[in-house]
Amino acid sequence: MTTTLITGGTVVTATGRSKADVLIDGETIVAVLEPGSRLLGTDLPASVDRVIDATGKYVIPGGIDAHTHMELPFGGTAASDTFETGTRAAAWGGTTTIIDFAVQTYGQRVFDGLATWHQKAAGNCAIDYAFHQIIGDVNADSLQAMDGLLAEGVSSFKLFMAYPGVFYSDDAQILRAMQKSADTGLITMMHAENGPAIDVLVEQLLAQGKTDPYYHGVARAWQMEEEATHRAIMIANLTGAPLYVVHVSARQAVEQLAAARDNGQNVFGETCPQYLYLSLEENLGAPGFEGAKWVCSTPLRSRAEGHQDHMWQSLRTNDIQMVSTDHCPFCMKGQKDLGLGNFSKIPNGIGSVEHRMDLLYQGVVNGRITLERWVEITSTTPARMFGLYGKKGVIQPGADGDIVIYDPNGHTSIGYEKTHHMNMDHSAWEGYEIDGHVDTVLSRGKVVIDHNEYLGAKGDGQFVKRGLSQYLI
Ligand code: URP
Ligand code: ZN
Ligand code: ZN
Repeated sequence: MTTTLITGGTVVTATGRSKADVLIDGETIVAVLEPGSRLLGTDLPASVDRVIDATGKYVIPGGIDAHTHMELPFGGTAASDTFETGTRAAAWGGTTTIIDFAVQTYGQRVFDGLATWHQKAAGNCAIDYAFHQIIGDVNADSLQAMDGLLAEGVSSFKLFMAYPGVFYSDDAQILRAMQKSADTGLITMMHAENGPAIDVLVEQLLAQGKTDPYYHGVARAWQMEEEATHRAIMIANLTGAPLYVVHVSARQAVEQLAAARDNGQNVFGETCPQYLYLSLEENLGAPGFEGAKWVCSTPLRSRAEGHQDHMWQSLRTNDIQMVSTDHCPFCMKGQKDLGLGNFSKIPNGIGSVEHRMDLLYQGVVNGRITLERWVEITSTTPARMFGLYGKKGVIQPGADGDIVIYDPNGHTSIGYEKTHHMNMDHSAWEGYEIDGHVDTVLSRGKVVIDHNEYLGAKGDGQFVKRGLSQYLI
């Protein structure tokens, strides 16, 4: 087994930073040491197989992206990243674990859907992976199956108040599933948008000839997100279910979550880089069909209304607890262009799995969040929220050797021609400049990224069984 010593760096965790050396034996961190210390009298640098000099750099736990959709069949096509290409791109960007969504489609049995996702991922991933379960058909059989999810290492499930006819659950189904969530401790993840009402607005806009991508954002108005968020909170309140609202984009939805938390309710919110940086006006409203690149749900919000600033603030004040990508990439050619002349036919999703750590680090540089909060919202809280903590999300003895060495003096220019490893024909983040750089990435002790070189292989990543959330009460 290879022993690795990372020396000279500043170890940053959710709770602080200090100069320390990190010793990894095989796949596992075995010690976090005073710089230059001797372990049991041995001269460490001389006795280990590999020394990585991290002088002047941050040493952080590998990123955990708790919301990805590799190979998801959606919108008449399928997300363009496979588990192989998507997890490799994640590694490039300093993410060492993804939690993807296994899908139970309408009429399908839950465990058949989960088995399909295992088949897609097994032997193909560059980094470790876990699953949430989408329940696309809440019925007596799927409710019973949910009792067996935890034993499979799946401790959360997602419901949709959006997408009627696809993944949609009505309030009666939500109530029953949340009762199961309260009984089992599985976290209810909610896509909170009022789908049936949105469909009426879509129909009316199209009838008025308003077919451009911009109108995707108009139809999916913030009131539709606020109302659904409130409804989900109320049903969770009644049932006692732990609730985690995914891809929150509207400030009014954040206010609903904050009020519920102030009221003592066990609810959480996730946002995504697109809701921190991008907007209805500049992106969805780009000339011609360009805005299709940024069609996702919930949609990008108006900058004039202040949603983006509010979201950064909510991350700082813990009204929003973590950041995932909702990585769901589609190419413009042959996929997004299905919606030429009808915005409602544009497959929903943005590809970001490669850039989350960098985009959030830029928030540190810009004075939006602290260095420790960066680690907390991108790694430690995801691990604690979704039952991975101890092995993931922390640098301590016994944890997996999932580590990123991040250079605050480096620079990353994001762009399709420059730094792009996702399987897409464009970058949704073209032109973004980051005052920092992912130098080295270790996944369970193996160096997979070393100064702009990929050293990993498909199959390096293993399925990780998750336990219950640390946030259950
Ligand atoms: O636009 C999105 N978010 N696509 C992926 C599916 C979902 O709702 O998370
Ligand atoms: Zn969703
Ligand atoms: Zn999603």
